[in-house]
Amino acid sequence: MDPRHVKPESIAAQALGWVDERTRAIAPPLHVATTYLRDPDNQYRSGRIYARADNPAYDQAEALLAELEQGSHAALFASGMAAATAVFQALSPGDHVLAPKVMYWSLRNWLMNFATRWGLQVELIDMTDPAAVRAALRPGKTRLVWIETPANPLWTVTDIAATVEAAHAAGARVAVDSTVATPVLTRPLTLGADLVMHAATKYLNGHSDVVAGVLVTRQDDEHWRAIKAVRAQVGGTLGSFEAWLLVRGMRTLYLRVRHASAAALRIAEHFHTHPRVEAVLYPGLPSAPGRAVAAQQMQGGFGGMLSLRACGGEAAAIATAAHVGLWKRATSLGGVESLIEHRASVEGAGTPAPPDLLRLSVGLEDPGDLIADLEQALEKAHR
Ligand SMILES: Cc1ncc(COP(=O)(O)O)c(C=O)c1O
Repeated sequence: MDPRHVKPESIAAQALGWVDERTRAIAPPLHVATTYLRDPDNQYRSGRIYARADNPAYDQAEALLAELEQGSHAALFASGMAAATAVFQALSPGDHVLAPKVMYWSLRNWLMNFATRWGLQVELIDMTDPAAVRAALRPGKTRLVWIETPANPLWTVTDIAATVEAAHAAGARVAVDSTVATPVLTRPLTLGADLVMHAATKYLNGHSDVVAGVLVTRQDDEHWRAIKAVRAQVGGTLGSFEAWLLVRGMRTLYLRVRHASAAALRIAEHFHTHPRVEAVLYPGLPSAPGRAVAAQQMQGGFGGMLSLRACGGEAAAIATAAHVGLWKRATSLGGVESLIEHRASVEGAGTPAPPDLLRLSVGLEDPGDLIADLEQALEKAHR
């Protein structure tokens, strides 16, 4: 398949059209070896030595992700956190980095509790405000700007191209956590970003049965080589079966993300004016502060994640979650089944999530069924 002549959904459906040369199998073989034979003259001409550093089980997933994100190289990791933290671990003590105040909470905790102890100067800012970004950049000192868009759990939107312009002018790289947008809706590297990160645990795999992460780079530069060294030496390497499942999951990525985005918009519009709902947070709503930027940098939808703020505060939110039937009360996102979660209970102290906020991950069920289930849960919560 020549990727220049077909749409990304065709590339994803056939996982690049690769066929196993030896057997002509259309589904890839599962490689499980941890070590590789050395040549008699003491060389490793295959380029493979040991599976902590690299693994043929990664080749198809990494090539597919590099193609979908329009990057030069991709690297799989054992989790989204392993991928994200490798980006920071490849920097040096004393380097200054900017990250958003609203972002995936576990990474924010790691940055504040571990990265700072290791000597990174981490500054949390309002990444949605280009003026705040420009003011915080320290030319020659700021090495990395971390963006998450749309960002957990308020679904705030950051203008990737504008942030890249400011960061590059100050000599800083830009990395984007694009877990929620996926390459279906946004391709940050085409907007100038240097790195894209995904918790592949979510939409890329899509079936709530793999923990994985990935980074895709625009170019094979010094920072990328340091990231690859972190993977090989720290050992946040993915298992072979997980990589195999990930390729299988990505074949339906475009169908799943488009369905979830259309359904999330319908759910957001339905509850936006609902008497039991204080507010709906979703970048696709005309009232959302990030709507204009989202419309520019997200193509074909606004993603499958939204949050509802229940009238009646924390107790009403928790009671609503207690009364759902079809929605599953669970953390995580991007799977085929729809999930509901009282986010402040998960994030604890310091969360930007208001106590009345329910985070919703929309799956592949009928959107009318999901709306009806939430309707009855909101009613019961107020009895
Ligand atoms: C936006 C985002 N980034 C990163 C992560 C971390 O991924 P993982 O759980 O695979 O480590 C998550 C997990 O929820 C996430 O939602």
